[in-house]
Amino acid sequence: MQATKLLMLIFPISVFIFLSAFIPNSEPFTGDHSNVLNADDGLKKEALKILKAKCNVCHRKKNSFMVFNQKNMVRRSSKIYKAVFVKRRMPKGEDISLTNVEYTKLKKWLLTQKINK
Ligand code: HEC
Repeated sequence: MQATKLLMLIFPISVFIFLSAFIPNSEPFTGDHSNVLNADDGLKKEALKILKAKCNVCHRKKNSFMVFNQKNMVRRSSKIYKAVFVKRRMPKGEDISLTNVEYTKLKKWLLTQKINK
């Protein structure tokens, strides 16, 4: 009898703990990722470093309206995501490529952005 009572107590508690893993973050989604960005400032800096080294070097000469900086990279995150990870058109040409680490870092930052895939 004692064991059954104990089970009746433990079972609902463990179900609750299990289900609580699926309760979404209480903060409402506003579509504004600036809070995330602040937390991931380091990530953004890393991403900008890559954009400067592997994208701007060429864009500055061949696509000058698409030179990335700290301000416009946020606005252009969807375009960057598409060009690099969906269409895989960028970096263009054979001479410049991203290392695996660079791909990972860039993607990590992009995932903190509001991207319309
Ligand atoms: C060797 C030159 C070169 C490199 C390196 C390069 N690009 Fe480009 N990129 C271009 C040129 C030229 C265009 C415009 C013509 C076109 O779209 O092909 C362009 C266009 C773009 C566009 C707009 C076109 C679209 O598909 O929306 C984006 C976004 C872009 N590049 C992102 C990047 C990113 C991000 C990198 C770095 C990871 C990069 N590019 C590296 C030459 C380059």
